[in-house]
Formats: sequence, C-alpha cells, structure tokens
Amino acid sequence: MNLKETLGSLFSQDELQLLVRGYDVVGDIAIIIIPQELESKEQVIAEVILANNPNIKVVAKRAAQYGGEFRTLPVTIIGGKDRRETEVREFGIRLRLNVEKVYFSIRSGNERRRIASLVQPGENVLVLFSGIAPYPLMISRYSLARRIVGIEKNPVAHDYALLNLKLNKKLNNIELLQGDVRALLPLFSTEFDRVVMVLPKSGEDFLEAALPLLRPGGYLHFYDMQKSDSFAESITKVRSVCEAAKRSLPAADVAVCGHCAPRTCRICVDCLVG
Ligand SMILES: C[S@@+](CC[C@H](N)C(=O)[O-])C[C@H]1O[C@@H](n2cnc3c(N)ncnc32)[C@H](O)[C@@H]1O
Repeated sequence: MNLKETLGSLFSQDELQLLVRGYDVVGDIAIIIIPQELESKEQVIAEVILANNPNIKVVAKRAAQYGGEFRTLPVTIIGGKDRRETEVREFGIRLRLNVEKVYFSIRSGNERRRIASLVQPGENVLVLFSGIAPYPLMISRYSLARRIVGIEKNPVAHDYALLNLKLNKKLNNIELLQGDVRALLPLFSTEFDRVVMVLPKSGEDFLEAALPLLRPGGYLHFYDMQKSDSFAESITKVRSVCEAAKRSLPAADVAVCGHCAPRTCRICVDCLVG
C-alpha cells in the first residue's frame, strides 16, 4: 500500500513529504518509520493501515535503529493488538518470531532462496549467525544437502529456531547450536562444503575463525554492507584472510541483495576457496 496516496486527503503536503512511502509487513505486523514531526498523528496512520489491510493485526513503529550484538530492533506498538510475536511464510516455510527480540529481515527471502539453489546434493553446510533459522530451513527445503548446522548466540532467536524446526516437520537434516561462533567453531572436527556467514555489519571479524571449517574447493558466502562503487573492497577482505591462512581464492562474485542506506548495498560475496 502506498501510504502517501492513502493519507493524501488527511495530511498536508508538508506532512506527506515527511512520510515514508511504505512499510515492512512481517507476518501480520506492519513496521513503519514515523518521523518525529508526525508522532502526534501516528495513531491516525496506524488506523488507516489497519482499515486498509485486513491481514494486518498490529502496527508497530521503529523506536530506534537495529542495534546491539543481536541486531535487534526496538519497536513501539501504535495500533491494533498489543503483541510482538507473529508468523511469516517464506517460500512455504513457517517462521515464528518476536519482531523485537530477534533479528529477521523480511526482505531477504529471495536471497535465502538463491543460496539454497546453489547447494549441491550431499553437501554439508554451516550457517553462522543463523538467527531464527531461515537459512537452514530454506536450504533444507530446497536442496538435497546432507547436513546443515546453524549457530546463533541470541538465546531467544535460538529458541524460535528450535520451534521453527518443529513447525516445519519434514525438514530433519538440521542441527541448531546456541552459542558464540568464536567459542563453538574450534569444537568442530569436520570440514564443511559450504559456509554461509550472515553478519553483514561485522562478519569480517569472524572470517579467520570460519575459514578452517571450509574444505579446500568449498564455497563461502560472506555478507557485507558496502558502498555501491566499492564492492571490490569486500572481496579484498576475504582475499586477505585467505592469503594469511595460505588459502587461495580462485573465484569471487558479488550478488547485490538489498539496500541499507543511500548508495550502500547489502551484498553477498560468493567465494570459491582453494
Ligand atoms: C544479521 S542477523 C542474521 C540472522 C538470520 N541469519 C537471518 O537471516 O534472519 C545476525 C545474527 O547473528 C547473531 N550473532 C551476533 N554475534 C554472534 C556471535 N558472536 N555468535 C553467534 N551469533 C551471533 C545475532 O544474534 C543475529 O541473530
């Protein structure tokens, strides 16, 4: 729904200028950014959203930016029911979550599906920073992977991941571990065919620890936030860690999977590591 069009008759031109065009819908929760100047009108905005979208039951506004180690998003409920838990369906997969206590990007479904489509039959896949388990579940549902391991530190996200595993009954090649990636990685004695690192803000700090878990000839998917004219810098981050570890990087491609700020993209560097 284009909010500006719908609110056109209720708001002045100046107010409309301030308003964002749309909002995210996570399950039945709409999450909107309300500029400070429009806070006195937030209930009207919530009522209009609820009236025009029968599937939306809760309207929440962002109360701050994504932050903290667990990349969570504080929200304030401004309309509808007073709850923060919802269920999303992504490519047929059920994902239950609390929008405030765990990280989940509703905009990354196609990217998760893309990664799943790259997984070859029989692969062992390691997903670092696995959250409520959307990547492990998507890979399990849409590939013939042998084993998928997810690691997540936020205990609330981990509990939802376990619940989501139960909700998606037929997906039974997934193991989910709760803890700090840095502490858990040294405990693995096997190598993986593919490692997915879903921590775009500071994933590079974990590259050195993750690399030994990837077999020679395996694939690394390294997420990063990067200026649109500097994608090569993200490849360089991986290359430097590979060189330090005496590993080669025969191929690296960048897939753009979203925008996080003006001229800044969320990218995935798809790497073949020797
Ligand atoms: C950008 S989110 C990605 C979540 C999930 N993969 C998804 O796509 O929805 C990054 C996740 O990494 C987790 N995290 C941050 N630091 C961690 C660490 N040191 N070890 C394990 N998980 C960590 C956060 O709690 C968060 O859930």
